Amino acid sequence: MQEKENNDGIVFKPIFKIILLIFTSFILFGALAIIFFGPKQSEVEIGEEEPELIEDGIHVRTGLIEADGLQTVITNCTSCHSSKLIIQNRMGEEQWNATIRWMQKTQGLWPLGENQKVIVDYLTKNYPVLEKGRRPPLTNIDWYQLEGK
Ligand code: HEC
Repeated sequence: MQEKENNDGIVFKPIFKIILLIFTSFILFGALAIIFFGPKQSEVEIGEEEPELIEDGIHVRTGLIEADGLQTVITNCTSCHSSKLIIQNRMGEEQWNATIRWMQKTQGLWPLGENQKVIVDYLTKNYPVLEKGRRPPLTNIDWYQLEGK
């Protein structure tokens, strides 16, 4: 009995040592991976938030025009979708308010409070409806009845 126990001890010990070695190397690799890849990841995160660069009156990261209310628009309007969606949609004040109401009702947009006016002012000022002013709407038209055949 005693001999067998001794044998077991001698046979198993190196195996445990190898297992221990494998585990420690895994832990070491993990630590090295964190050391090597950790800083890179945080660099990327900083890099994404950092460029608040303005070039030629354009906010580089979003492509939005630099003007009063820009930061409010960036904070409230670019987290769900691209700013392109905003730039492409030229609307009047009423339409913007309706679009915001629609997003609040159906897309989970939060209440904007006083910022709504800041945002809508920014949008109507910097992205005016292009069609406006091309031709004033017709007024005082003398409509006449078409004669039937
Ligand atoms: C909570 C998320 C969310 C936020 C915040 C948000 N939107 Fe939207 N918005 C959406 C979704 C979702 C759509 C639909 C996208 C699609 O059709 O692909 C949308 C669509 C739009 C459209 C296109 C509407 C159309 O008729 O096609 C415009 C313009 C728009 N958003 C502007 C804004 C503005 C301006 C703000 C800031 C006040 C804003 N969004 C903030 C979710 C959001």
